[in-house]
Amino acid sequence: MANYKYHLLQAEGETPFVSRRPLKVCAIFGLILLIIWYNCSITFTIPLTSTLQTLSKINSEEISTAYPSSIQSTSQAHYEIINEETTSDFPEATTSYSPKETTSDYPSETTDITTSTTQLVTSTTTDPHLGEYFVYTPTCHMPAINPFARDALKIFKKAAYKSCDNDKDMISVRYDETERIYSLHMNVANISCCYKSILRYGAGNNAEKSYKLSVCVDFQQDFKVPLDVDGIITNCRKLNTTKVVQKDAFNFVQAKKSNLNKTIEKDLSQRRPSVLLWGIDSLSRMNFQRTMPQMFKYLREENWYELQGYNKMGDNTYPNLMAILTGFNSTRAYSVCKPKELWGMTNCPIIWKEYKRCGYFTAYAEDWAWGATFNFNKKGFVTPPTDYYARTFMLAIEKELKRKVASNIPYCVGRRHSAEYIYDAALQFTKVYRNESSFGMFWTNSFSHNDFAMPSSMDTRMLEYMRSLNQSGVFDSSIIVFFSDHGMRFGRLRALKSGYLEERMPLMYIWLPHWFRLQYPQFERSLQRNRNRLTSPYDIHATLQHILQLETPPDKLPHPEGCASCHSVLHEVNVSRSCRDAGIDDHWCTCSGMLNVSQSDTVIEEAANQLVNATNDYLIAKHFGNLCQQLKLSRILSAQRINKATKKDLEYYLIRYEVKTKRTKATFEATTSWSKKTNRVQIEVPDISRLDEYNNLAQCLKDAVARKYCICRR
Ligand SMILES: *[C@@H]1O[C@H](CO)[C@@H](O)[C@H](O)[C@H]1NC(C)=O
Ligand SMILES: *[C@@H]1O[C@H](CO)[C@@H](O)[C@H](O)[C@H]1NC(C)=O
Ligand SMILES: *[C@@H]1O[C@H](CO)[C@@H](O)[C@H](O)[C@H]1NC(C)=O
Ligand SMILES: *[C@@H]1O[C@H](CO)[C@@H](O)[C@H](O)[C@H]1NC(C)=O
Ligand SMILES: *[C@@H]1O[C@H](CO)[C@@H](O)[C@H](O)[C@H]1NC(C)=O
Ligand SMILES: *[C@@H]1O[C@H](CO)[C@@H](O)[C@H](O)[C@H]1NC(C)=O
Ligand SMILES: *[C@@H]1O[C@H](CO)[C@@H](O)[C@H](O)[C@H]1NC(C)=O
Ligand SMILES: *[C@@H]1O[C@H](CO)[C@@H](O)[C@H](O)[C@H]1NC(C)=O
Ligand SMILES: *[C@@H]1O[C@H](CO)[C@@H](O)[C@H](O)[C@H]1NC(C)=O
Repeated sequence: MANYKYHLLQAEGETPFVSRRPLKVCAIFGLILLIIWYNCSITFTIPLTSTLQTLSKINSEEISTAYPSSIQSTSQAHYEIINEETTSDFPEATTSYSPKETTSDYPSETTDITTSTTQLVTSTTTDPHLGEYFVYTPTCHMPAINPFARDALKIFKKAAYKSCDNDKDMISVRYDETERIYSLHMNVANISCCYKSILRYGAGNNAEKSYKLSVCVDFQQDFKVPLDVDGIITNCRKLNTTKVVQKDAFNFVQAKKSNLNKTIEKDLSQRRPSVLLWGIDSLSRMNFQRTMPQMFKYLREENWYELQGYNKMGDNTYPNLMAILTGFNSTRAYSVCKPKELWGMTNCPIIWKEYKRCGYFTAYAEDWAWGATFNFNKKGFVTPPTDYYARTFMLAIEKELKRKVASNIPYCVGRRHSAEYIYDAALQFTKVYRNESSFGMFWTNSFSHNDFAMPSSMDTRMLEYMRSLNQSGVFDSSIIVFFSDHGMRFGRLRALKSGYLEERMPLMYIWLPHWFRLQYPQFERSLQRNRNRLTSPYDIHATLQHILQLETPPDKLPHPEGCASCHSVLHEVNVSRSCRDAGIDDHWCTCSGMLNVSQSDTVIEEAANQLVNATNDYLIAKHFGNLCQQLKLSRILSAQRINKATKKDLEYYLIRYEVKTKRTKATFEATTSWSKKTNRVQIEVPDISRLDEYNNLAQCLKDAVARKYCICRR
């Protein structure tokens, strides 16, 4: 058992409540009248009566079990934490994070920094800058934090991978590459199995919330899966008995016909790389190194490029992923793509549409159907956004199969880990389209979103997936982006002094195929240099645009709308780039060194008081004053001056402080400017971070932002 657990999901600004929503979600099933088949039509028909039976089944018996009905049920998590000392697995904690004041001489450009990347990540270097800074340029000093610092190791307990089901597979899936057909092989004699096809079902508001199961159709040994079936649930019984002895689920990436149009085909004189986005939610580069040492070693040895100066641009998943997928800033990601309106995301200009236009096959799959990026408190896609889309499948299996929950997220679903369905889909997708161009995004939340230690359970497994990808030739065909959206945003890791940086420095690695490196040596050279330059999600968007037109000169390439000075990471980033140039707001910028300031400094105390006042005013302005208690500053926990050369009268501070109310205490952190002229802070309240768990204290409010600041009266 974990020795601690989160009762809440503070991440994403909007707090999912695993305990409530399913009733609502399930209730809609009965009302649905329309069936939407996507693109291809389904050839077999399902008798109406059985459809109704299925529906009523979903309505009645499944409701109670759909998700844990109370938060307590998370304590049933079958998620094992190894309790032995873990520190011995890791390098000695040598230094803790303590950026120095460094305004003087910069290392001579290109030589020192760029040739020593591998040393930068170890803690045994002798050069004073290496190991201390990820980026060290005139405009950016990004401190490197030691993943194995004592305070972090103290709260880190390695998690073990635990198989979801130790029984032998009764069914295995085979794929015939020439015929492009899946078949189901029964591995056990004297059993009889049937499958229910999982169908996308329901229109409009229900398109992303409902699914339908066909009747269970018996099948024979080596049954060929019909081309219109892309997800099934199987039931196997011993012959002549009624009890189901194994229930399982499989998703299939069915080959579609090439949509390469003649015009493009003629233009294709150059080989095109496919693109694979492999994303893990809430994982910083440091926490990746800390929790997944085997993967870290592997990526380094295989010459992936780590963008060590990669800095997030917005708070949670949506803005950061949208900057990558659309190039929009967060205002525009909401105003153009309108995720809370029905057709918003469907009509949103996500880059996979451009890939599609250029004849690529596209895929998007994400685990945790209920908390998924475009669905949690958002409307999702009315029609499937990509050729292969896993949502309906994930939705169905999370409801129909047995679940084990860890840190409030379904971790095991049926016989496999949630994330494994996503990775299996990635393997299939890249295999099925291996001789064609493909663009796929595969995103997981289940083993990283709520518990910073849990990625360690997937380390070995992930390496196996990398080996499988390699075996099916993906490293030869594809540019791979192995990445995250941000680091841990709440909880014990975030509460450390280094938490400020952990949150802002997401994982970002890029793989280039060998032929690509040979054909475009200048791109590889630039990427090499950019490892220790400041980069942002907008650059990744520009890179995805660039991949579609590799022969276009830099000045003719499109720039992301949200950051006109951002560009492909296959072109060298200017050494004097600042956060502003990279589209990163001051609040998120990690380029400025920090100086300790005494906690009893009068400026700090005044600033903190103003921050608390501003927070109270914010709640009142939103008319929550009667619901939320008034906050009072209780003490300053730490204060640092951000070493930033700006206007003469302005100073910047990072202040961590505790407030109290009649009911309880709470911890906040703010980066704020301080005008020496007016003696006032300047900050938008929503930029103030809340560091401790607040779900239970904020039950009286729905407003995602205000909840961070509200301690309900009661
Ligand atoms: C399957 O059943 C048949 C007939 O009942 C029996 O002869 C055979 O031994 C069984 N096979 C296995 C592997 O149990
Ligand atoms: C199942 O029942 C059928 C007829 O009812 C019989 O022929 C067959 O041998 C039985 N199989 C097993 C494994 O019991
Ligand atoms: C083929 O692609 C080109 C370039 O995107 C486009 O201009 C043209 O309309 C497309 N033709 C067809 C038949 O889709
Ligand atoms: C986002 O971009 C739009 C237009 O490009 C701009 O008007 C707006 O101020 C930007 N918002 C932020 C927060 O930068
Ligand atoms: C891809 O090409 C290889 C070699 O040309 C061939 O063996 C393989 O069957 C093809 N795969 C698909 C899915 O078409
Ligand atoms: C892929 O496998 C080959 C053969 O085992 C190995 O030499 C190569 O380093 C692997 N590449 C990657 C990126 O894993
Ligand atoms: C880098 O940026 C600086 C300042 O914006 C500019 O003067 C310089 O020309 C740029 N260098 C390159 C190589 O673009
Ligand atoms: C800042 O203060 C902390 C303790 O509050 C100390 O551990 C750290 O070394 C100090 N850093 C510098 C650069 O003085
Ligand atoms: C905060 O508000 C209180 C009451 O509204 C006021 O008395 C106090 O002066 C304010 N403090 C600051 C620092 O503005």
